[in-house]
Amino acid sequence: MAEDRLRVLVVDDDPGQRETLARLIRALGYATDTAADGEEALEKLNALPAHVLVTDLVMPRLDGRGLLEQLRRQGGGPPAIVLTAYGSLEKAVLTVKDLGAFWYLEKPVEMAQLGVLLERAAAQSRLREETERLNRQLSYQGVLADLVGRSPAMQEVFSLIRQVAQHSAGVLITGESGTGKELAARAIHRLGPRRDEPFVAVNCAALPEALIESELFGHEKGAFTGALASRAGCFELAHGGMLLLDEIGDMPVATQAKLLRVLEDGRVRRLGGRSEIPVDVQVIASTNKDPQEAVRKGELRMDLYYRLNVFHIRMPPLRERKEDLPLLVEALIASLNEKYGCRVTEVEPEAFALLERHDWPGNVRELRNVLARAVILAGEGAIRRQHLPAALGGAPRPVTEQPSAPRAGIYVPLGTRLREAERELIVRTLEFAGNNKTRAAAILGIGLKTLHNKLKLYRLSSATARAGEGASAEP
Ligand SMILES: Nc1ncnc2c1ncn2[C@@H]1O[C@H](COP(=O)(O)OP(=O)(O)OP(=O)(O)O)[C@@H](O)[C@H]1O
Ligand SMILES: [Mg+2]
Repeated sequence: MAEDRLRVLVVDDDPGQRETLARLIRALGYATDTAADGEEALEKLNALPAHVLVTDLVMPRLDGRGLLEQLRRQGGGPPAIVLTAYGSLEKAVLTVKDLGAFWYLEKPVEMAQLGVLLERAAAQSRLREETERLNRQLSYQGVLADLVGRSPAMQEVFSLIRQVAQHSAGVLITGESGTGKELAARAIHRLGPRRDEPFVAVNCAALPEALIESELFGHEKGAFTGALASRAGCFELAHGGMLLLDEIGDMPVATQAKLLRVLEDGRVRRLGGRSEIPVDVQVIASTNKDPQEAVRKGELRMDLYYRLNVFHIRMPPLRERKEDLPLLVEALIASLNEKYGCRVTEVEPEAFALLERHDWPGNVRELRNVLARAVILAGEGAIRRQHLPAALGGAPRPVTEQPSAPRAGIYVPLGTRLREAERELIVRTLEFAGNNKTRAAAILGIGLKTLHNKLKLYRLSSATARAGEGASAEP
């Protein structure tokens, strides 16, 4: 029976208080274990995880705050109830308020209050276990956060992501463009103890050298011409959470030296600033270059490379894992259907064979773009060969010439006013899209709002009502 009960670990250096508390908790129906300080608590938790932690703050060796910090570094630990001496609640709140989800309980402990808090903490613990179980289960089915893949190579990536998510160490993600490096970084964030803290991404390649340091470290008013107001940098914005340094291989080498210093000291100084601001940030770097090659060429500092490369995740190119295509195609079509208000259900075998034959130099991003076009053109039912680009061996002719397309194409005689032509094109496209405005806008390459404006401009509401069968996907 005892195994079915939730386990509560009671940590207090005063043996009398510890035993009294443990007895109360057992009387409430929980199993208990005890520890005399943070160190002992860590040992016990490593040997057998508890569902709830009840801990005193002031203790020898490792105190309550130290214990919670250490647990957080290891991946969160169980939900915790922090004991505070009578009248010192405020101080206790200040001591550990930055360490995540807690409840406070004033000493001497009242049975009723203790019961309520234990129930809450236990509920959270169960929720966490359930979420973890579901995540594990989904990843066996080929889904981890927003990443899809069932191939051995992707399963290895998933397993690495799950492991590094539990640590705050540096992570380097490499891989060709479009292989999902950013998605992988977001998965690490979502699966780890920093999930409720910010995720900030900076693209180091997109920023001119003069701007990147201000972007990363922030600046004080007047630090340089144009610095009209003080501004926090990405490190400060990501405090407590995660910072993705995208395209690290393109960061100026001088900036890399400053970045390394921040990583070592855990403190940033804004440009033009005097004081150093402590920051707790997990840094993930990504690059589509070969990092060792970049080090050899002097584009990436070796010391920074070692600092970031504690964990290395290599995203495999799509051509090396074509067995992921069926699952990827299914997942991407589902998301594109939603985005464009379409109802595509499958890919014809002939068309799928073309997808399999292609080499995918642009990887999953290229696949997504090819499918986006196909989903928009097909609208519903199956994606056929003619919906794929000619480069893949798809439609050699424009799709609008296909007999299945109702009155596809328009004839615009010379001398037609531009407005007239546009109006006609909109009417025909709406017809072609079954009056689904989201899809029509996508075919026309304009936003839904622009389409609405044009409908109003050309007074097309009656025309669209004529064609409309209520197929519009708009809310
Ligand atoms: N395994 C995957 N499962 C589902 N979608 C994916 C996967 N990999 C990539 N994608 C999709 O491909 C696109 C590109 O992904 P992402 O931006 O993460 O790539 P990247 O490696 O960071 O590319 P780049 O080097 O060009 O920045 C996104 O639309 C993403 O949703
Ligand atoms: Mg990217």
